[in-house]
Amino acid sequence: MPVTAVTGSASGIGAAVCNLLKQAGHRIIGIDRADADVSADLSTAAGRQAAVEQVLTLCEGKLDGLICCAGVGVTAPSSAIVIGVNYFGVTALVDGLQEALSKGNNPAALIIGSVAANQQLGNPDPMVAAMLDGDEANALELANQGPGPHIAYAASKYAVTAFARRKAVTWGKQGIRLNVVAPGAVETPLHQASMDDPRFGEAVKNFVAPLGRAGTPDEIAKTVAFLQSEQASFIHGSVFFIDGGMDAMMRADHF
Ligand code: NAI
Repeated sequence: MPVTAVTGSASGIGAAVCNLLKQAGHRIIGIDRADADVSADLSTAAGRQAAVEQVLTLCEGKLDGLICCAGVGVTAPSSAIVIGVNYFGVTALVDGLQEALSKGNNPAALIIGSVAANQQLGNPDPMVAAMLDGDEANALELANQGPGPHIAYAASKYAVTAFARRKAVTWGKQGIRLNVVAPGAVETPLHQASMDDPRFGEAVKNFVAPLGRAGTPDEIAKTVAFLQSEQASFIHGSVFFIDGGMDAMMRADHF
């Protein structure tokens, strides 16, 4: 039975991923702030380290899958928390569990990015460089001085996608696949909070995918389950936009 760790397991996309993978026969190690096998706050270094240690204990040092879904949106209490959870809360787990994944059967990891990462293409914010340098203190400071959580969100998702793609060569040589799924609008508590927000609500509601609707967590989870399966055995280092056509709408000629 494959053993897969899933962050953000208590809600939205993460919960849908857990359900589908359980149906596919995986043993799930769920990680979230509460209501999970591993309760941890991924916005702090101590919380991330505790999460890695507890997962290593529960999987006995051998992991077949890792899926990083935990994230916060533009309604997070601060821009720094957006960077702390969406970038460092992902990279600490990916790096911390790499050795356990290298011992797994057909191991595969996956990060939930966002179509919002596209906003940083061409001219990334300085926060992106700080994140990719692993300089959390600087990244958090830049975030708190920056123009707002929407920029921090886009920067965090761009950086975490670049982080994943930069690992393609070394991880490929170890036989660990690593991909990114970049959703568009998906009906979850995070998305609802964005729509209800007085600062961003109108913009979020007006940004409608060509298919004319938001996706469901299950529609994202189905792609995740496929990418984690043996059917996707040659897919590595790729970014999948599951967004009802938003990416194509924004940059048809660039891919
Ligand atoms: P959600 O709010 O339903 O689920 C997010 C989960 O992450 C929650 O269970 C929450 O407790 C957990 N989490 C947040 N901060 C945490 C922390 N400090 N420590 C541990 N766990 C923490 O949201 P949703 O929509 O399912 O989000 C999942 C991922 O999808 C996120 O990375 C989000 O950025 C991404 N995404 C969502 C979109 C949407 O429209 N819903 C669009 C594009 C990307």
